[in-house]
Amino acid sequence: MNAVICETHLPNRQAVARGKVRDIYDLGDHLLIVATDRISAFDWVNPVGIPDKGKILTALSLFWFDRIKDLVRTHLVSADLADFPEDFQAHREQFEGRSMLVKKCRMFPVEFVIRGYLAGSGLKEYRQKGSVCGIKLPGGLVEADRLERPIFTPATKATDGHDINITVEDAARIIGKESCDAALDAAMRVYSFARDYAQSRGIILCDTKFEFGTCDGEVVLADEVLTPDSSRFWPADQYRPGGPQPSYDKQFVRDWLETTGWDKNSPPPPLPEEVVVRTREKYVEAYRQLTGKKDF
Ligand SMILES: Nc1ncnc2c1ncn2[C@@H]1O[C@H](COP(=O)(O)OP(=O)(O)OP(=O)(O)O)[C@@H](O)[C@H]1O
Ligand SMILES: [Mg+2]
Repeated sequence: MNAVICETHLPNRQAVARGKVRDIYDLGDHLLIVATDRISAFDWVNPVGIPDKGKILTALSLFWFDRIKDLVRTHLVSADLADFPEDFQAHREQFEGRSMLVKKCRMFPVEFVIRGYLAGSGLKEYRQKGSVCGIKLPGGLVEADRLERPIFTPATKATDGHDINITVEDAARIIGKESCDAALDAAMRVYSFARDYAQSRGIILCDTKFEFGTCDGEVVLADEVLTPDSSRFWPADQYRPGGPQPSYDKQFVRDWLETTGWDKNSPPPPLPEEVVVRTREKYVEAYRQLTGKKDF
């Protein structure tokens, strides 16, 4: 297990942004996106990181980017340290294996969520309205049921950073119909490919969130793709519709936080060692199961 990297620093360069997980450096036409070991739950970053998490997520994103490159244009330029500016190379302990040089895009302020199964906020909305993001679904569905066809359930970020589900028409209005259609087509192609691939590895891809933007007038798939942070993966051999499914994501962290009495409105309590270890194992397990590789 390697040292935890929760923040990156360079002597002569500032990160332009630090998201919940990634540190972002602006290189003009490009960005250098660094996946740190930060973990967030209930929209709060924990003071304790998960060793190797950023490397695992980066390796998994790269695995997918390589497999989907004929399906969609992606923002990836290189994950090879040798292609990065020299000051990043001089601090390889911070950047190697967790960074991607990408084309800077003008991001659409809409998340492209594709759902093949009923869970999370989709399930909540279905129970209240019988539909998700304005899409009417058949009656009598239960939690974790497979949908006849995958659906596009766009979301946008409220000013406080929380996701709010919107309708497909809203999404088209916000980003323009043509761009929205192009991104949606690509999202569906990638989702279908990934669902079938994951199935062949014994994993159900319940749902996933893509982010798109434009670059040189073209719609481009950006951000991370098909990781446990952006997707719900379920072990296929334990699939039992009618209740929550075991998953490869940070459910473990959420469950522990729920036991602490934390109010979710103030900085969260630090994760204890045992939760850190088990969470790391979950990320490693997802990576190994999906890729068949044993790098971590
Ligand atoms: N190619 C790209 N060009 C421009 N911005 C990008 C690109 N790829 C990803 N991003 C943005 O970089 C950020 C990644 O950081 P991170 O995932 O840590 O943020 P986050 O906490 O998810 O932030 P946010 O809540 O704003 O999505 C996201 O805001 C994402 O939209
Ligand atoms: Mg993100």
